Amino acid sequence: MNGRARARHADAGHDDRSEGGPWWREAVVYEVYVKSFADGDGDGLGDLDGATARLDHLVSLGVDALWLTPCFPSPDRDGGYDVADYFRVADVYGGDAALERLIEAAHSRGIRILLDLVPNHCSTEHAWFRAALREPPGGTHRRRFLFRDGRGPNGGGPPNNWRSTFGGPAWTRVPDADGTPGQWYLHLFDPGQADFDWRNPEVTDYFERVLRHWFDRGVDGFRVDVAHGLLKAPGLPDYDPELDLATPMTNQPDVHDVYRAWRALADGYLPGRELAFVAEAWAPTAVDAAAYVRAGELHQAFYFDLVMRPWDAVEFRASVQTALEALAAVREAGSGENGELAWTLENHDVFRSVTRYGLLERTGPLPSEPHAAAVRPRGVVDVDLGRARARAAALFLLALPGPVYLYQGEELGLPEVLDLPDDRRQDPIARRGDGSDLGRDGCRVPLPWNVDAPTFGFSPPDARAEPWLPQPASFAALAADVQADDPRSTLTLYRRALALRRERIVGAPRTVEWLAVAERDDVVAYRRGELVVATNFGAEPFVLPPSWGTVLLRSDGADGDLLGGSTAVWLDAS
Ligand code: NOJ
Repeated sequence: MNGRARARHADAGHDDRSEGGPWWREAVVYEVYVKSFADGDGDGLGDLDGATARLDHLVSLGVDALWLTPCFPSPDRDGGYDVADYFRVADVYGGDAALERLIEAAHSRGIRILLDLVPNHCSTEHAWFRAALREPPGGTHRRRFLFRDGRGPNGGGPPNNWRSTFGGPAWTRVPDADGTPGQWYLHLFDPGQADFDWRNPEVTDYFERVLRHWFDRGVDGFRVDVAHGLLKAPGLPDYDPELDLATPMTNQPDVHDVYRAWRALADGYLPGRELAFVAEAWAPTAVDAAAYVRAGELHQAFYFDLVMRPWDAVEFRASVQTALEALAAVREAGSGENGELAWTLENHDVFRSVTRYGLLERTGPLPSEPHAAAVRPRGVVDVDLGRARARAAALFLLALPGPVYLYQGEELGLPEVLDLPDDRRQDPIARRGDGSDLGRDGCRVPLPWNVDAPTFGFSPPDARAEPWLPQPASFAALAADVQADDPRSTLTLYRRALALRRERIVGAPRTVEWLAVAERDDVVAYRRGELVVATNFGAEPFVLPPSWGTVLLRSDGADGDLLGGSTAVWLDAS
């Protein structure tokens, strides 16, 4: 049974394992950024019934699972990653009943549903944090967070030198009951997102209840937000950002105890249910990332290194090889089956790949933070070139062993929307920063479905509100219905690639053999099983050696043995 057939065969509540291994090993998972995918009720915000109504798009695309971004009650200071109630779907997304409908409709089509779990922090509107503010230092609720006295005269300075990912100090001071300035609480992100103290067993117990709550309602797994951040170094020491690659804020050895416990909890649902976790773990090295998928830990961890690489043959190959070696080391060291590093080019936190790869020249203001400069680079962009490269990158990636995550709109070749009016931007990165980092709104613009409909079909025609972020006129040519029947469209390329992946790639031997390419260091080729994948990162055409096989799929849709620049090809080498 191939991957797709296996998924279709699967039925929540039945044992869906097969000889081919668990479903998540080579799944294609599609990220639904709920607020921007499809608006069912006309309020200008995407919702779960909107997603259910668009499921056929995902079936014809050929994905195995959906990852839904947080859809829980939230003041929305950070796109819902500030959760006020972990046990309920927010009314604005349709409430619990809409999630039930989506799960049922997806399962009946063989598609699994992953929710987004945000365990590092909660909204300062969460009942625990509100109670903590009413307590004196040391109170039961305060101990579930990281409250500390300040340093310096009257505790007026933050407890340490940690910086928030969104800019400014990672600490905010709160008043005591009598109104005088009191303790500080830690927030690695927005001040509206208070970090939990994961050394407090009440926090551990709470999240185990959250997991069971959703697993018991048919959810198939979770993407784990900031998975590397739950545990902080004991004593919360200062650090030197110039010197320390590994920070005291993240990737602490004991964070893995949490994931061993969660894995055991999920495995408790076997054999009937095969549940999965994917870690959003930004780790200093591939070895650190792979540590999250050691035997007995999580099923998948994102491999973000590639997202940070520019369009460059040497960089792409080296990045992939590094991941494969890290995974091999985990496999050799472990007893039992390890998980997978998940390949990905896009998500809701980075500029779209079309725009990243179309960057001709960096121009200011450059984001001062190196991570932002890599994932949200600013400069002169050639969108057509970027799209050709993004299509090639997709073929490069989709044949590698392991799962692949796609971000909504990637299959339409959407570019980053760079010219959103400043007063429409919502991302705290854009609001809190110095203006050099545009933030993440440009990849979160509501999707174009139908060229001729108002809001390109994102909202129903009689919608009572505009989409929450404005769609550019250029989305018309990229609408899903325009691309659906166009044999050269990006959507058609993704559909073909995913269909071929199911038929020929899923379950093939895992070994990636890099092929020698004479006289060209801008062409990368690898063989996996009976497939050869060749990618021309340069501009000069490359003559495909006949020994590499016959063409199955090309990212530019052209024929012949001449592989143009910014193009990739899958060849049948059987
Ligand atoms: C990672 C999420 O993907 C991002 O959108 C969010 O801002 C941070 N974690 C904080 O939750």
